[in-house]
Amino acid sequence: MKTDAKIVAEGVTKSFGGAVQALEPFDVTIREGEFICILGPSGCGKSTFLRIVAGLMKPTSGRVLLDNVPITEPGPERGLVFQEYALFPWLTVLRNVMYGPTVRGIGKKEAREIALDQLKRVGLQGFENHFPYQLSGGMKQRVGIARMWANNPDVLLMDEPFGALDSITRQILQKDLLNLWMEEQKTVLFVTHSVEEAIYLSDRVIVMSARPGRITDIVSVPDQRPRNLLSANFIDLRAKLTRMVEKQVLPSAHLSEGQQAYAD
Ligand SMILES: Nc1ncnc2c1ncn2[C@@H]1O[C@H](COP(=O)(O)OP(=O)(O)O)[C@@H](O)[C@H]1O
Ligand SMILES: [Mg+2]
Repeated sequence: MKTDAKIVAEGVTKSFGGAVQALEPFDVTIREGEFICILGPSGCGKSTFLRIVAGLMKPTSGRVLLDNVPITEPGPERGLVFQEYALFPWLTVLRNVMYGPTVRGIGKKEAREIALDQLKRVGLQGFENHFPYQLSGGMKQRVGIARMWANNPDVLLMDEPFGALDSITRQILQKDLLNLWMEEQKTVLFVTHSVEEAIYLSDRVIVMSARPGRITDIVSVPDQRPRNLLSANFIDLRAKLTRMVEKQVLPSAHLSEGQQAYAD
């Protein structure tokens, strides 16, 4: 039976070889169907946390529960999209999207139908037989989204998926992703370092400190979607979140300089 809590992180820490502490105890409960953005300075452990939830990496201590069961490995109920497009360059767009369903044992004919349907949803009708190198960055990322959705995951894990795109393409993809999500409210964990992107997309924004990453604030975004970037609320929230993130970046810069001086 499904519970309201979809993902629960309990005291999750991660260190790399003892010297690099990437995550400090990280505790959060994410509800089913929530769209969560994780916002924080570069190197604070955002990808590390996402990889732990994906089951690609084990925490040093603590655990993450998915539907009350500890995560120990990757699973098809968690779909991933990363900044790098990670498509198979030797497969056509259609075959890239068919890959997941086929691996899960779905027959070729049905997998093809699923893939065609998902490609249509992301606006790539007519590009089924193209190869990744023939596509723009935005189109590749659409294939990535179609491929993720073709596996019908419960949870979408997206690590700065639009970070490498120009701002217009990025805005279009944000809007399209929201439309897909509004049709089927999957639980989404979306990593970004863009304050605007976080407010535009999410139900709640998790703000992380500089490394070692811990949660400093969790901010709800109550506004109805689609959100207006020029509304007073949006602008207020943007200022507030920007201050929260800056606070994380600036003192740590001084600290590391100071530490360096002492070390010398
Ligand atoms: N496999 C790894 N081995 C050693 N250090 C790592 C590894 N992965 C990440 N780190 C370090 O952990 C910290 C957090 O990294 P990451 O989670 O990628 O940050 P973010 O995604 O927030 O930019 C960084 O200092 C990074 O260098
Ligand atoms: Mg990262």
